[in-house]
Parts: sequence; C-alpha cells; structure tokens
Amino acid sequence: MEIIRIPRIVQDTCKKYRMKGRSVGFVPTMGALHEGHLSLIRRSRMENDITVVSIFVNPLQFGPSEDLARYPRDVESDSNKISALETDILFLPDDALMYSPAFSTSVEVAGVSEKLCGRFRPGHFRGVATVVAKLFNIVSPTRAYFGQKDYQQTVVIRRMVKDLNFDLEVVICPTIREHDGLAISSRNTYLGPEERIAAAAIHRSLSRGAGAVLQGERSAGRIREMVEEGLAAEKLINRIDYVAAVDLATLDDVEEIGREIVLAAAVRIGKTRLIDNLLVNV
Ligand code: PAF
Repeated sequence: MEIIRIPRIVQDTCKKYRMKGRSVGFVPTMGALHEGHLSLIRRSRMENDITVVSIFVNPLQFGPSEDLARYPRDVESDSNKISALETDILFLPDDALMYSPAFSTSVEVAGVSEKLCGRFRPGHFRGVATVVAKLFNIVSPTRAYFGQKDYQQTVVIRRMVKDLNFDLEVVICPTIREHDGLAISSRNTYLGPEERIAAAAIHRSLSRGAGAVLQGERSAGRIREMVEEGLAAEKLINRIDYVAAVDLATLDDVEEIGREIVLAAAVRIGKTRLIDNLLVNV
C-alpha cells in the first residue's frame, strides 16, 4: 500500500490509472476505522481495480461546540487495517494542504442539507459537501462508497454529484450493526458501559416503528410516536433531537406512508450524539 500525503501526487497517480482504463474505487473516511468502514473498503476492492482510502478529520464539518478536538485518531492502527485489506493507496493529507489560509470556497447543497441533522448542526453538510467535492477532484474515482448509517449525508452527496456533474457513481452500503443492533460508529467509543447498553434503544425503537409499518400502520405520526416512546423510556437518552419519517430523496416529512420511507432518529446519550435510520418499504 502506498501512503501519500500530497493531494497533487494522489491526483496524478489516480489520473494515470484512469487513463490506463482502470477503475478507481474511493472510500473517504475520517479515520477511527471500524467494521462499517472496512465493509466499504471490501466492497470497493470487489468492484474496482484500484482502491483509494482517505483519512482526513475535516474541520469544516464540525461546529464550534462539537467534538473536533476529541474526535478519535489512531492513524497507525487505521493504516494497518487498511493495508490488511490490500488497499492500494492511503491518502493522508494534512489540514494545511487541504485548506490553505486563503481557502474561501464552499459547496452548499440547499434543501436536503437543512433538514433532519441540518437543523441541529448548522454548516455541517456544507463542510461535508465541500471536502467531498475536493476529495472527488483529487481522486477522480469511478465509484465512491458511503454507509447508509449517515443517510442524509448520502442524499446530500448524491444531489451534489448530480448538480455538479461529477463523473462517478455513488455506492451506498448497508449499515453494519453490533450484536444488539446498535449501528457501528466511531462515536460509540465515547460511550461508557451503561451508556453503551442504553444506545441499543435507538435501533430497538426504530425497528418497533418499522415493524408497525410492516403490519399495516400507515400514519407516520403514529409511527414517530411509537419510536419516541421507545427512546423516552431509556433514561440515559437525555435528548431526542428528532424522530422522522421522511421521503427517500427529498427528506420531506411523510404523513401517510404509501411508499418506501426512511425512519430516522438522532439522540444524545450524555454528550454523545448518535444517529441511525432504517429504510421501510410498505
Ligand atoms: O462520513 C464521514 O466520515 C465524513 O463525513 C466524510 C464523508 C469522510 C467527509 O469528511
């Protein structure tokens, strides 16, 4: 595996591969790699000639009161995991090479960025869209891989790819879960033992809502209430940011469930904000 820190070198290397007709799969990450990331890398390896993984903790997507400083970082362990999967290139840029002092461009995907998490994390999806656009321009991938756990992020990126004519395919891979259903996330490492047990209530409550839809309940309001009740019953969940039943593409609230929807929730356990979602087909 080649470890490259300089964007220009990654750009030239990937262009050469593409010019030789080889497909490039790209897995952008912020490190602290877990099974979710590894599943994206494996999928990219299966579907492409070359796989590039980036690790960059993107300051633009963290709000002033968010966890940028305490975001877990362990480049050595990450790089061993990536190399064990026979990744071709690990792109490890420094902040200064990604954002020069004069950096002044941002990519704003209006509409879908403002809903769900966008209401609680102003500027977050602008930061994500901006760095992903930069990374796409550096790597010029044939396919880019994202996890369904960050469902809104996948919608924002797909919209950006269409709107800005990026010539690549966005591949969304299933959420990887712990034995009790908790969606695997780098932020799970912040949870104490009791909080960790409490966190299983998120998937349990969403599954209860999804189960009710499958059994014929069509009122999104009733489904949201059921999920909220499940979350509220868990004492260590100290805040429910939202429970939403939304359209797959627009993320607009659905009232009567007549087609596939996303049932999504964001909660806080202590200081840790966790999100999860399920796609529910009637
Ligand atoms: O999902 C993530 O880890 C990040 O939002 C991403 C896509 C790597 C951009 O920084």
